[in-house]
Amino acid sequence: MPLLMIIMNSEQYYQKYFSKGVFITGTDTGVGKTVISALILRALINIGVKPSVIKPIETGCIKKDSNLIPSDGIFLKDMAEMDDPIDIIVPIKYELPLSPLVASRIENKPISFQRIDHSFELLINKYDFLIAEGAGGILVPVAISNNALQKKTIYIADIVKRFNLPLIVVSRATLGTINHTLLTVNYAMSIGINIVGIIINYSKSSDTDISEKTNPQIIHELSPVPVLGVVPYIHKIDKENLDKLTKNECKEMLKNLFERL
Ligand SMILES: Nc1ncnc2c1ncn2[C@@H]1O[C@H](COP(=O)(O)OP(=O)(O)OP(=O)(O)O)[C@@H](O)[C@H]1O
Ligand SMILES: [Mg+2]
Repeated sequence: MPLLMIIMNSEQYYQKYFSKGVFITGTDTGVGKTVISALILRALINIGVKPSVIKPIETGCIKKDSNLIPSDGIFLKDMAEMDDPIDIIVPIKYELPLSPLVASRIENKPISFQRIDHSFELLINKYDFLIAEGAGGILVPVAISNNALQKKTIYIADIVKRFNLPLIVVSRATLGTINHTLLTVNYAMSIGINIVGIIINYSKSSDTDISEKTNPQIIHELSPVPVLGVVPYIHKIDKENLDKLTKNECKEMLKNLFERL
């Protein structure tokens, strides 16, 4: 069910129907899904929308006493200014830095989709908007379901479909990203996922790579979905700097995104 919101775009207010959320995937692990999620959370807060975040499965958590500490979830909870327990924001945690399928096998802890659904339902109903961050890219395996008739692998893409949210693809700016971005976008489209667009993220402070300068334009030219914009290298990632970016360098990208939600 879309939501009517009043958005302030520069000096003008306008009304708009928003989707209830968005799913953030990446072309790979470490491309900047969490940073982009945080930036969008800050932008929503700055326009008066009450956002929430879910990281349905986080692997590579740090073990402290007998608790698993999910760093992405904790960072995003702070950025979203949520007071919900971290176990709602990150319902499934593993210690090993592996795909969920492999981590769950080695740690001998099957994934509970009931817990994921419970968190999702709670957050999507309680808040204006939900940002869901995947794990790695969309073909990261999550589980294998076995029933009498068939054996089926469940991927992150299946969680995107389960949540029924439109997708944002976060891409690196560096060499190799054209291939990874087009593979991700074309595969997601082929299985019927609705893509809002691509965000190209400069996660490293290098300006020596010539491909970084040409990649946004060529991806824009070749991709069947729009490039919403680029996010520059951010020297210090905190609320203050992200808030500044939403009003300056990333304003156009966020406007493109909000117009397409
Ligand atoms: N625009 C940026 N400027 C500076 N550093 C960035 C930027 N984007 C990402 N980074 C840094 O790159 C690293 C990876 O980013 P991030 O954690 O957002 O990736 P991810 O796709 O969420 O990874 P994962 O698959 O582990 O969830 C982090 O150390 C982050 O601080
Ligand atoms: Mg992350």
